[in-house]
Amino acid sequence: MDFKDIVQKRRSIRKFTDEPLTPEQLQTILRAALMSPTSKSCRSWEFIVVEDKDMLYKLSRCKAAGAEFIEHAPLAVVVLGNAENDDVWVEDASIAAVSMQYQATELGLGSCWAQVRKRMMGDGNLSDDVLRMLLGYSDSLRAVCIVAFGHPAIERKEQDESKLKWENVHIYEKPE
Ligand SMILES: Cc1cc2nc3c(=O)[nH]c(=O)nc-3n(C[C@H](O)[C@H](O)[C@H](O)COP(=O)(O)O)c2cc1C
Repeated sequence: MDFKDIVQKRRSIRKFTDEPLTPEQLQTILRAALMSPTSKSCRSWEFIVVEDKDMLYKLSRCKAAGAEFIEHAPLAVVVLGNAENDDVWVEDASIAAVSMQYQATELGLGSCWAQVRKRMMGDGNLSDDVLRMLLGYSDSLRAVCIVAFGHPAIERKEQDESKLKWENVHIYEKPE
């Protein structure tokens, strides 16, 4: 698949079959994250791979709403930025996350991002703090998102070329 087709085909998939990812698929997805560009090449993100069903359930309840789909995914990757080493940890972690999503599409897999940064549980606890308790990562690390991966159990239409917001693109023209 050309990259042009991958970007069109990628859609958020929130329903997965029970089929697990192969170790090769997982490695290829993580490779994409580890090859993603970072500011000053600091590469200080960290990734926690979760396949354990109980933990997937707990991850799916780490915020008030919007992460439920993780419960039935065969695998999820918690994407962490390092707020001590990297002044642009949000950007670096986000680029790694989306790189994994494009790689998953190329492998014929589905994925969906669940936002963690700035999200809370119903009781007001920060989702990042909930995940830190569950997974035991250090205070310098901050969760940006959780990306769930799996074999799609639904088909989604590819992106509609006619609906692209070209009006949001502005070409600068030098004044005469
Ligand atoms: C920063 C960011 C946060 C997102 N957070 C969530 C989320 O918490 N839960 C969810 O189901 N989808 C989430 N998504 C997926 C978006 O809802 C999805 O990308 C958007 O609706 C467009 O659909 P598409 O990905 O199929 O093109 C998020 C996507 C981004 C980029």
